[in-house]
Amino acid sequence: MPAQFNVAIVGGGIVGLVTAIGLQKRGIPIKIYEQSSMFRELGAGVAFTANAMKCMELLDPGIVDAVNAVATPNGEDMNNPNDYMRYHDGYHYDPTDPSNTDDKLLGLLFSGYKGFQGCHRAHLLDKLVKMVPESVVDLGHRFVGFEDRGPDKKLLLRFQDGTTAEADAIIGCDGIKSKVRQAILGVSNPASYPQFSHKVAYRALVPMNLVIPVLGTFKALNMHLHTGPRAHVLHFPVVNQTLLNVVIFVTQEEDWPLVDEEHASVLRSMTADGSRAELDAVFESWGPTVRSLVGLLPDKMVKWAIFDLHDRPLPTYVCGRVVLAGDAAHASSPHHGGGAGVGVEDALALSKLFEIVCESIKLDHDQDINQSRLNALLEAAFNAYDKVRPPRSQWLVKSSREACEIYEWAYPDTKDDWAKCMVEIERRSHKLWYFDIEGMLSELEMEYRKQLTRG
Ligand SMILES: Cc1cc2nc3c(=O)[nH]c(=O)nc-3n(C[C@H](O)[C@H](O)[C@H](O)COP(=O)(O)OP(=O)(O)OC[C@H]3O[C@@H](n4cnc5c(N)ncnc54)[C@H](O)[C@@H]3O)c2cc1C
Ligand SMILES: *[C@@H]1O[C@H](CO)[C@@H](O)[C@H](O)[C@H]1NC(C)=O
Ligand SMILES: *[C@@H]1O[C@H](CO)[C@@H](O)[C@H](O)[C@H]1NC(C)=O
Repeated sequence: MPAQFNVAIVGGGIVGLVTAIGLQKRGIPIKIYEQSSMFRELGAGVAFTANAMKCMELLDPGIVDAVNAVATPNGEDMNNPNDYMRYHDGYHYDPTDPSNTDDKLLGLLFSGYKGFQGCHRAHLLDKLVKMVPESVVDLGHRFVGFEDRGPDKKLLLRFQDGTTAEADAIIGCDGIKSKVRQAILGVSNPASYPQFSHKVAYRALVPMNLVIPVLGTFKALNMHLHTGPRAHVLHFPVVNQTLLNVVIFVTQEEDWPLVDEEHASVLRSMTADGSRAELDAVFESWGPTVRSLVGLLPDKMVKWAIFDLHDRPLPTYVCGRVVLAGDAAHASSPHHGGGAGVGVEDALALSKLFEIVCESIKLDHDQDINQSRLNALLEAAFNAYDKVRPPRSQWLVKSSREACEIYEWAYPDTKDDWAKCMVEIERRSHKLWYFDIEGMLSELEMEYRKQLTRG
């Protein structure tokens, strides 16, 4: 490997860190450029499906340990987890006999052993950060653009504060408002910007001792999704079952306000002040279970506008030696709980490709490799990624939107026919969870060889 070989990772969220850990494990020199002055995640939950856990294992088993250290299984006996997702009718009930009709179970889906464990995002990020040496992290570096100075040169990264850096390749893990995406597609390209899905999410972590008296132990400690018209409610336990992660999705017909800075689609903020009073109004005619759960939420809440890349899927994730991963490439609505997980698949795909590039370098007699040959290998690797990854990640973006319609009884093929809804939910969830990872890895290798012989 040439002495100065270096990969720049832009963004230190879950995907940037997991990518860094995977490359580091394979001996690839990296540098992470993160805009914030510290690593930060929300005080909210996240869960990983089976595909994500398996990719983490292949990236670096230490990542699985990090997740397990902060993950909370479902169920009353944590040593014997209850690995089901439960879909309920949160809406209908008989006011004359609410206790008998409220929140009826519509369907059950087995998610595999510990197949959907909740984590506190900030706790997980802390663990991941500890796996990366401080010397490879540059905090307070906001990427604004790159320059490709030719096939025999390194790339130049530019940061907001006027500083620059060089790298042989750039991985854009800078999230839904990605600047790397804008740099690849162009600032005036509408595909560079995410779109409002007309759903907003209210999120809260509620102390479990308040929840159990209201929901009962079983509902409080197991993942549930309460369906209904134009809204739905998801909850699962986190932090050793001491907190309940609650996410409430509500339809918002009006557009989300955009602020015209450089471009009409530049978003200033994807969050706004919200209140429990708004939710009380939305759920006024729903069943008592959902209403009482809403009653546990704080008076003042933040609401998140759910943006994604659904309406304008990216035509490419790659430009030369610059590549997008995670939300930068395929920001998805969260209705499959799969956005971060598919970003972890990207990280594994990239780790595998860098591994193969290193093998090519060895075959080329090691340190003698010149910059133009290295650049050609990296471009072949990223072109292979661009062939293999988009179909699956763009499927997730589309299916997540449809999953939301299913949960809200509005998907045209299933409406409120819950036998049909469950068949759809199972089919889509299985496609996400039981992903042929080995198949992806060999496809990447095949595409890389094809690109090189073509190259
Ligand atoms: C309500 C909700 C619930 C969800 N639940 C789940 C779930 O249960 N399971 C799941 O798998 N997924 C879930 N997701 C999706 C998941 O949150 C995202 O897919 C994931 O966090 C994306 O990670 P990322 O690293 O790609 O991006 P981010 O986490 O957004 O990280 C991007 C990083 O890049 C930095 N950055 C941005 N711009 C720049 C720049 N110009 N220069 C330098 N650094 C920059 C940011 O500061 C940040 O640290 C959910 C999403 C939402 C909205
Ligand atoms: C989780 O809680 C159980 C009992 O409630 C306790 O025995 C266990 O030590 C806790 N684990 C952690 C990691 O705090
Ligand atoms: C770089 O190396 C390749 C072989 O690995 C060779 O074909 C090419 O001519 C070299 N280019 C330069 C500019 O030295």
